Amino acid sequence: MPSLPDLLSNNRQWAEGVKRRDPGFFDRLARQQAPRYLWIGCSDSRVPANEIVGLMPGELFVHRNVANIVVHSDLNCLSVLQYAVEVLRVEHIIVCGHYGCGGVEAAWKRTPLGLIDNWLRHVQEIAERHQQLFARAMTDAESADRLGELNVLEQVANVCRTTIVHDAWRRGQSVAVHGWIYKLQDGIIRDLGLSVSRADALVKEFGRALSALGGGAAT
Ligand code: CO
Repeated sequence: MPSLPDLLSNNRQWAEGVKRRDPGFFDRLARQQAPRYLWIGCSDSRVPANEIVGLMPGELFVHRNVANIVVHSDLNCLSVLQYAVEVLRVEHIIVCGHYGCGGVEAAWKRTPLGLIDNWLRHVQEIAERHQQLFARAMTDAESADRLGELNVLEQVANVCRTTIVHDAWRRGQSVAVHGWIYKLQDGIIRDLGLSVSRADALVKEFGRALSALGGGAAT
């Protein structure tokens, strides 16, 4: 495992490498950031947002928390969302979950972990809401992966229902919300087929994406 001084020396090497390839990079970046995308993902160390979509610093605005949850009373997440939409004027908001998510697994198995159980309760509620999508024959790992997919769809819906995104759409601002899921085993992101760019499209698009998972109930 690298030591702390190793991290600092890695940083010097990285900065020198970037400057060698593009001498004006840091000067440009220091003057302004103009990302077109907001990423809402899991804090998991195996899902580094910029890296897996091949974007450089300055190209992706990022919010991460355990199990990529968007809660209407979470001032942290809402502030990121508001700044991204109203100040940076991002055009796309991507909610990206991942298979093998420890948070989602703990929510599924109801593993007691402490304070975080309260946070993961949001994910348990999603499992309860979509009980029909969990077949008895499914293993715990399969069920947790299904719950991870459902969690992404529900969090996309939550982003769409914020006053921030609602107001943007009412102003005619172009912003689309998408649901993706990343697989640790092969490094590939799967599009869950939920993209919403208008308030009145949410219910239909959500229903369609849910049906593709084998469900059918509306959100
Ligand atoms: Co996770």
